[in-house]
Amino acid sequence: MESNFASQKKNSKTSRSIGILTAGGDCPGLNAAIRAVAKSAMHFGIPVIGFLDGFRGLVENRYIPLDDRAVSGILTLGGTILGSNRDKPHKMDMGGTVMDMTDVAIANARRLNLDCLVCLGGNGTQKNAYRLARKGGINVITLPKTIDNDVVLTDTCFGYDTAKSIATEAIDRLHTTASSHHRIIAVELMGHSAGWLALGAGLAGGADVILIPEIKYDTHAIADFLNARRHSGKRFSIIAVAEGATAVGTPDEVDEDDDEEKSQKKNGAKNGGKNGKTPADDPSAPFSKQPLMIRESKVSRIVREIQMLTGIEARLTQLGHVQRGGTPTPADRLLCTRLGATAGELIAAHRYNVMVAVRGDTCIPVPLEEVAGHIRTVPTDHPWVNAARLMGTCMGDA
Ligand code: F6P
Repeated sequence: MESNFASQKKNSKTSRSIGILTAGGDCPGLNAAIRAVAKSAMHFGIPVIGFLDGFRGLVENRYIPLDDRAVSGILTLGGTILGSNRDKPHKMDMGGTVMDMTDVAIANARRLNLDCLVCLGGNGTQKNAYRLARKGGINVITLPKTIDNDVVLTDTCFGYDTAKSIATEAIDRLHTTASSHHRIIAVELMGHSAGWLALGAGLAGGADVILIPEIKYDTHAIADFLNARRHSGKRFSIIAVAEGATAVGTPDEVDEDDDEEKSQKKNGAKNGGKNGKTPADDPSAPFSKQPLMIRESKVSRIVREIQMLTGIEARLTQLGHVQRGGTPTPADRLLCTRLGATAGELIAAHRYNVMVAVRGDTCIPVPLEEVAGHIRTVPTDHPWVNAARLMGTCMGDA
């Protein structure tokens, strides 16, 4: 592996090189972005390697060369050819002991003479990349990736459009079956603590009720709305619910420090045994693992309550990771290509420690320190919320 990279470097016009990694939850478009960064770096004569399994690959020195052949034919491929996880260098489970591996990560990047580490990820990745940059000795560039669409200072994130399309198609399909059976069907959508996915897909799919974390819902108000719909002759209803939607009177959830904690919390340590471990943990696993537990949805409670209050049969569909699977939409492929190409240009110009953001038709660098640690939720007066209300959509509030 190393010797391939060494010969690739020897044959290149410059002594520069870069590494790419994908971290956090995967999404369609990661491969398109890897391809775009690698191809544009190669355009400038800069060899590229890809670290396997997020930041862990950097710490464990596991990487592959990303030459022209390696990135050929991956534009339309879902997932990530590099693998991903939610591990972070400053708190990494190394065979059962959680350790700060930041220095090892930096030393490995230096040993490989990397000019820059390009990190493709959501909010957790932005923070982890920034931590590495702040520690010094390693330049980073990030790209905003997440189906949650909640990274700040960018118009949008790649992965969102595809997830929104998948969710919209699901809502379309649920319409026909809800109509046949005169039911209420709720569809739970991802998005963590932001409502972009439920709002976007709910609007595009014409959901009758849209519940997002930013607007606390009142079950009685929803039931009144659904009853009024029924009395007006509409015999079915569709509810698009964000996984983070919460009822009026429920305290706001504190945003977790990072992706790994988010995942542990969502996986429900409350369901696990002592120390959150379950018998499903495999000590012989090749690298760190979260306690393996099934996530329980709080949306099922909403559906139960609505059925009780309306007396109308209600069903719940959870799309889950289907929203993160498969081929990226043309819009996401285009976005990834634009972001990746700009990353290549920034690397060529030695412009580091920035995230490549989308602003209209352009991609611009924004300081990573202004991105890390922030989250972009839906403003309650956002034009999409306004449009939903004008469509007569119930947003869950009274
Ligand atoms: O951040 C992306 C996301 O899909 C969120 O929408 C969701 O809450 C979370 O990741 C799910 O995480 P995991 O894949 O670890 O279950």
